[in-house]
Amino acid sequence: MRITVVGGGVIGLSAAWRLGTAGHAVTVLDPAPGSGASWVAGGMLAPVTEAWPGEEELLDLGLAAVARWPAFAAEIGAAAGMPSGLREEGTVVVATGVGDRAELDALAAHLAGLGREVERLTGRELRRLEPALGPEVRGGLSVPGDLAVDNRELLGALRVGAERAGVAFAAGAAVAVQDDGTRVTGVRCASGSIRSDAVVVAAGAHSAALHPVLDGLVRPVKGEILRLAARPGAFPAPSRTVRALVDGRPVYAVPRDGGGLVVGATQYEAGFDTDVTVAGVRDLLRDAERVLPGIAEYALVESVAGLRPGTPDNRPLIGRAGPEGLVVATGHGRNGMLLAPLTADAVLALVEGGDGPAAADPARFADARR
Ligand code: GLY
Repeated sequence: MRITVVGGGVIGLSAAWRLGTAGHAVTVLDPAPGSGASWVAGGMLAPVTEAWPGEEELLDLGLAAVARWPAFAAEIGAAAGMPSGLREEGTVVVATGVGDRAELDALAAHLAGLGREVERLTGRELRRLEPALGPEVRGGLSVPGDLAVDNRELLGALRVGAERAGVAFAAGAAVAVQDDGTRVTGVRCASGSIRSDAVVVAAGAHSAALHPVLDGLVRPVKGEILRLAARPGAFPAPSRTVRALVDGRPVYAVPRDGGGLVVGATQYEAGFDTDVTVAGVRDLLRDAERVLPGIAEYALVESVAGLRPGTPDNRPLIGRAGPEGLVVATGHGRNGMLLAPLTADAVLALVEGGDGPAAADPARFADARR
């Protein structure tokens, strides 16, 4: 089939690579592949430590996805002939004040109620694991199954893997998915149209504008991150992802090879604004330094904002929608990196007439829309 994948972020590239490997004629349409939210991402593959009470279906999707990650990373690495960035050191979640510890207790109890025991650790035990943690850390959890990926290494490997699988890249900006009232016919972009038998909408926060069936279902949720680099003589960065609550505010630090740290992330409902604000940088640095005091000696090498694609119920939209031949793979919110392997497999199944994950089926919004 001639398939156009609209969007060259982690979801679009993973799906395109899977579809190309399966023998389809795939074109990725994106003015700058790999440059949006996927480029900004911290790269946590963290279904357990991103879990919220009431979002059990998302937790199940995330657990299924994280289980696929080691094989997915190995497959991309082999296809591209380069590392794909997986880090398997795990995650610690730490608390500072009394209120923060009570919140972690509630998270641990919630997870235990779901049959997912996590290990409770004192501040001293946490510092034995990660000496970079400072004296304000009073307790926390160890979650070895929550992993991380170097998002930029992954995007590079996916691009090469996709090209090697025969995927073509077109640099236009998509304007709308076209259909004849029954089935899709192609994608209209600034410079013309690309005729297609199937279209995969994987345009992240920009997806809603591409077809009326997605109208109002995906919105941008802004997040700012900072990239830090250990300078000679500075205290070494942690080897695990550190997630923290500091006086009720969440902050995380995700290690990169070579002493780098990605510190994130703010969360705002601010439309398509991607400015990095003074207050965002101040809050992230202040909170991260209380947990990891050694970062005061690090270089601040980058600050950047991205737009998570949010949905009304925080679950992604992965499934057929609207005219025949239209598959959507968007709305991954805080979990795009995590859900990429599961989404890529689902897109291949959906394009070939099979099913996607029921919990992510866009049809759940159809009644409300009628
Ligand atoms: N998953 C991390 C974030 O969205 O900030």
